[in-house]
Amino acid sequence: MAEPRWRPALPQDLAMIATWIDSPTALTRWAGPGLSWPLDAAVLWRELDGGGTPSFCLAETNQPVAFGQLFVKGTHHQHLARIIVSPDRRGERLGERLCRELLREARAERITLNVFADNRAALTLYRRLGFEAIGDTDSRGIVPMQLRQFDADVDSPDAQETR
Ligand SMILES: CC(C)(COP(=O)(O)OP(=O)(O)OC[C@H]1O[C@@H](n2cnc3c(N)ncnc32)[C@H](O)[C@@H]1OP(=O)(O)O)[C@@H](O)C(=O)NCCC(=O)NCCS
Repeated sequence: MAEPRWRPALPQDLAMIATWIDSPTALTRWAGPGLSWPLDAAVLWRELDGGGTPSFCLAETNQPVAFGQLFVKGTHHQHLARIIVSPDRRGERLGERLCRELLREARAERITLNVFADNRAALTLYRRLGFEAIGDTDSRGIVPMQLRQFDADVDSPDAQETR
């Protein structure tokens, strides 16, 4: 199969992405509190501010297989958010590919994200990319992380580890 293509996310992608979320708990763990349940693609696009917040996906035959957003927190600070991979495609390193593309888009000196401390798959992924915890887990179970270093021209995790 062809490599997934990186492109801006479109409102119609949310119809597929909404099928990846099977409960309000999963919704909160993915995208934070305050989003409407049950999911409606158009409402979700609006609540994620898909038109205003830089939003991207990896797509195969133009259908999304992974999605993520970049929050601009300051001139030199961006924040990875709403990272998700299609449930039937997890463990293929699409999450890694998605995050590396988001990091290329970000090109900020400071890059952060938040993750639930018990989200082991996400933590494995983020640590592999070079994120480390920068604070204690809060009362909701969320830990803030920051990228130690980022070189957009180095693709291989092994190459990064030797630097
Ligand atoms: C987190 C998520 C994006 C990872 O996507 P992915 O494409 O499976 O990610 P990758 O394949 O690049 O890496 C996942 C890693 O976690 C590991 N992993 C998977 N389940 C795990 C578990 N229960 N415990 C520990 N590690 C686990 C995988 O083995 C893999 O590591 P490896 O490649 O070294 O073996 C995906 O699980 C997801 O969409 N989860 C739901 C939404 C979510 O929680 N988003 C994060 C919000 S902060």
